[in-house]
Amino acid sequence: MKIAVFASGNGSNFQVIAEQFPVEFVFSDHRDAYVLERAKNLGVASYVFELKEFDNKTAYEEAIVKLLDEHQIDLVCLAGYMKIVGPTLLAAYEGRIINIHPAYLPEFPGAHGIEDAWNAGVDQSGVTIHWVDSGVDTGKVIKQVRVPRLEGDALETFETRIHEAEYKLYPEVLESLGVERK
Ligand code: GAR
Repeated sequence: MKIAVFASGNGSNFQVIAEQFPVEFVFSDHRDAYVLERAKNLGVASYVFELKEFDNKTAYEEAIVKLLDEHQIDLVCLAGYMKIVGPTLLAAYEGRIINIHPAYLPEFPGAHGIEDAWNAGVDQSGVTIHWVDSGVDTGKVIKQVRVPRLEGDALETFETRIHEAEYKLYPEVLESLGVERK
């Protein structure tokens, strides 16, 4: 089972995955993303296409599909990939794309799951890994865990606890989907 990881920025989830599983390549939509540095340090191949380098999102996603096809990727793991997966990529790879979201979906979808939960004053949030469909964070849930907000938490400590839950959940889900560890 060959996996690719998509990340737009920091790439800490990519790092956790790549330390435990063989990753064929990492894809980023930003040339200055820190995930590219992590990939280099881990000896993982990386590719970058920026949307602005293409005429439109269809052409951008056609290039991504070509890359995935060339590498015969079985599973695309979104890990902080901050673009909505469009119809071109979805048509080619629906059912083979999963995403991690830092909240307990359907609670707090969107780009600011942690802050939105924090600002809503919830006493627990969570982490979700789900199949990607055409909605925003709406696909079928594969696995999710609750993360409590503790007394004395600041946004930063709450955020750290959410990320720690992510670093446990992604490997568990990959294993459950049949991805072999290194
Ligand atoms: C992660 O918390 C991930 O769940 C979130 O972005 C962060 C990326 O961190 N994704 C979303 O919010 C998607 N809606 P990382 O780059 O350090 O892995």
